[in-house]
This record gives sequence, structure tokens and C-alpha cells, in this order.
Amino acid sequence: MTTYPFQSALITGASSGIGEAIVRELGPSAIPQVVVARREDRLTRLAAEIGQVEVLVADLTDRRGLARVAKRVGSTAQPIDLMVNNAGFGTAGLFHDADAARLHREVALNVDALTTLSHAAVTAMRARGRGYLLNVSSVASFQPAPKLAVYAATKAYVTSFTESLHEEARGSGVHVTALCPGLTRTEFIEVSSGTEMSETYPSFAWMTAAEVARTGLRDVAANRALSIPGALYKALVAGSGALPRSVLRRLSRVVQSR
Ligand SMILES: NC(=O)c1ccc[n+]([C@@H]2O[C@H](COP(=O)([O-])OP(=O)(O)OC[C@H]3O[C@@H](n4cnc5c(N)ncnc54)[C@H](OP(=O)(O)O)[C@@H]3O)[C@@H](O)[C@H]2O)c1
Repeated sequence: MTTYPFQSALITGASSGIGEAIVRELGPSAIPQVVVARREDRLTRLAAEIGQVEVLVADLTDRRGLARVAKRVGSTAQPIDLMVNNAGFGTAGLFHDADAARLHREVALNVDALTTLSHAAVTAMRARGRGYLLNVSSVASFQPAPKLAVYAATKAYVTSFTESLHEEARGSGVHVTALCPGLTRTEFIEVSSGTEMSETYPSFAWMTAAEVARTGLRDVAANRALSIPGALYKALVAGSGALPRSVLRRLSRVVQSR
């Protein structure tokens, strides 16, 4: 069992995928956790299984739901030591074919809610002189992604924003990390893709949510600015940094058109 330094944790998007895997990974350490998502039945079941888990049902694209979660993150009576901004989704397909209201919700969740909750977390953590902020981004944040244009742009925001916060936090006792997974088997594909994406990529390209969760938790504990699970994705990100942008976006279009 891995020993983690966190005294408490709040995880958004804990009802499935990477968020649920983070809750399960922290479970054996008996760290008190707050789990946030819209599907109450899933959260209640998880809480009963893991123990020491507080359920907070909220839609983070709703102003009042977001305010309730931000208030819980900033609590001084029951401080949150590890904040994980994990809830997010994408919209696959050509930009002009996508539903505008859905794209608005995507930006509201991936960017607005993450920024609001990061602010609540960092403010409270700096006052205490300790804390851990883990923002879930994506390898899609490192290049444009035709047919996932809004999603890649929201994740580019998350990586850039989180790296800036990492530097601002130097010497404050607060650790800030962007977790950038590649393809991970979760409900994401079903929610975001609408295509048979899982069949178009080779099996070796897929990671499990548990692998991604462990890497992210280990890296935020170690105060790494970027956490990229898996040797394949580390190499791809390093390679993409070496390519001209014009080549990168064309390659990305070819990959998305498979
Ligand atoms: N899977 C991948 O290949 C992959 C790769 C890179 C990055 N990521 C990122 O990893 C993160 C987690 O995604 P996942 O792969 O674990 O997908 P997932 O299984 O679909 O989980 C998404 C989570 O977000 C929650 N959520 C969605 N909309 C919400 C809202 N409006 N308010 C509150 N919670 C909401 C969902 O819960 P409810 O539906 O119950 O609200 C669910 O718990 C996302 O930020 C995603 O962009 C995923």
C-alpha cells in the first residue's frame, strides 16, 4: 500500500473513471474524503464501500452547485488538504456540427469550475501553509486537436494555468500539479465521443484509470508541475514539443480522422 501525505481530500467527478479510481486509491490510507458529482446513487454506493467519505451532489456547471462546492473547499473548520479538479468532458466532431449549448457547458466545467475551485483551494491552502492541488488536464493539451477543438483548447488552458500556479506556489508549502493522461478506459469515450474511438486505437495505447490515479497522486505528493502517466505518452509529449506547430496540427488532424 502506498503511503500518501494528504490529511483530507475532495475529488470532483468521483462517480466514475479517474475520479473514482483516485477515491479507491486513497481508501486504504483512511484519508477522509469528499466526493463530488451529479449521480448521487454512484457516490452513495462508493461512500458506503470506502468509508470516511462525505457525499456532495452538485452540478459544477450550475452557479449554485459550484458555489456550494467552493464553500466546502474553503472550509476552515474541515480543511481540504488535497483538492482534485477531475470532472470534465469533451465533444468529438466538427466544431460547426456541435451543439452550442453543450460546448458552453464543456467550457463551464473544464475551465470555469476548475478555475473557481482552484481559487478556493489555493487561497485556503496558502493561509494554512500547506496543501495539494491536482488539476486533471490531458495529453490533448499539448497540441491543437481538429474534431476535438474545444476540448483540446480547454485542456491547453488547464495545463498552462496549472503550471503558472505551480510556479506561483514555490516556497508556500502548496503543491500544484497538472495530470495529463492519454487514452484511459473510462466512461469518457461514451460521454464525449459518440464514435467507436476505443476500436480505432491499439490496445497498448490504453491505460487503466487506476494507473492514471496512482501516477497523479504520486506526482502531486512529489510536487511535480506535470504528471504524464505512461512511457508512451511521456515520449509523445516530448516528441510533440520538438515538432513545428504546422506539422503538429496536421498530424493531429490525421490521427483524429482515423
Ligand atoms: N478517459 C480519457 O481518455 C481521458 C484522457 C485525458 C484526460 N481525461 C480527463 O480525465 C477527467 C476524468 O474523466 P474520465 O475519463 O474519468 O471520464 P468519466 O468516466 O466520464 O468521468 C467524468 C466525471 O465527471 C463528472 N461530471 C461530468 N459533468 C459534471 C458536472 N456538470 N458536474 C459535476 N460533475 C460532472 C461525472 O459525474 P456525473 O456524470 O455523475 O456528474 C464523472 O464522475 C476529465 O477531466 C477528462 O477530460 C480523460
